[in-house]
Amino acid sequence: MNRRLQNNSEYLEVTIIAHKEGQDLPTKFKYKKRNEKEKPMALDVLLQAQENQLPDLAFRYGCRARNCGVCTIDINGKPRIACRAVVRDGDELKAMSTLPVITDLIVRRDQISRQLKGKIYEGGRKNDLNVEASEDYHELTSCIECYACLDNCPMHEKNFSEIKNDQDYFQWGNPFSLLKLQTIATDPVSTVVRREAAVSAALELGLETCLDCPGCKCGVGIDLKGKVIKPLLQNSKLVD
Ligand code: SF4
Ligand code: SF4
Ligand code: FES
Repeated sequence: MNRRLQNNSEYLEVTIIAHKEGQDLPTKFKYKKRNEKEKPMALDVLLQAQENQLPDLAFRYGCRARNCGVCTIDINGKPRIACRAVVRDGDELKAMSTLPVITDLIVRRDQISRQLKGKIYEGGRKNDLNVEASEDYHELTSCIECYACLDNCPMHEKNFSEIKNDQDYFQWGNPFSLLKLQTIATDPVSTVVRREAAVSAALELGLETCLDCPGCKCGVGIDLKGKVIKPLLQNSKLVD
């Protein structure tokens, strides 16, 4: 074996755990850096692994620029946006643990996206593009739907321990769903009825769980605690 190729400055070794037919299968992969100084992102590593060693490895990506939110995986057990997460020697790359895995590093996302169906009052939306929105509204609309905030959410965890019924979507909410509802509540073109319906929907999804929770963290830095949870708790009268 060429010793130079073993040099740490040229290679970086990670473990990629692919989920296949109910089993987690770890594979060691040596990423060849494009130059000595390169600090590859997780998505770079996955793409090279797929090209050189694991041709059937399945994972999602789209924009490669932290815009589309579909590439989230777990790195060492924590959710990270793969196209923007620097990988280090010894890291472990795996599917997100907070959602059911379909195959390899791909998780089911539809149970979240269908969660709000029927919970939002669709009527009563005025259509005036000249209305100025608040800064809070603009911050909330910067959500990229990466689902990194599901990590450690006790409300979301109830979907696996306290199943309300066997509907094909998650019955209990999560920071993302609450953000979507609070976006409606802060949307300047929402009517009073629509805003009230959004708060009711948050209660229906289990908003009271947030009372005993230290709060959630957003993968792109949205202030979930201050701009989503707090106003929803106040508007629902769960806190003053
Ligand atoms: S709130 Fe943040 S972490 Fe959650 S889905 Fe949106 S961007 Fe991702
Ligand atoms: S504050 Fe609410 S939404 Fe956020 S992690 Fe806690 S329970 Fe989940
Ligand atoms: S590929 Fe779009 S956010 Fe990572």
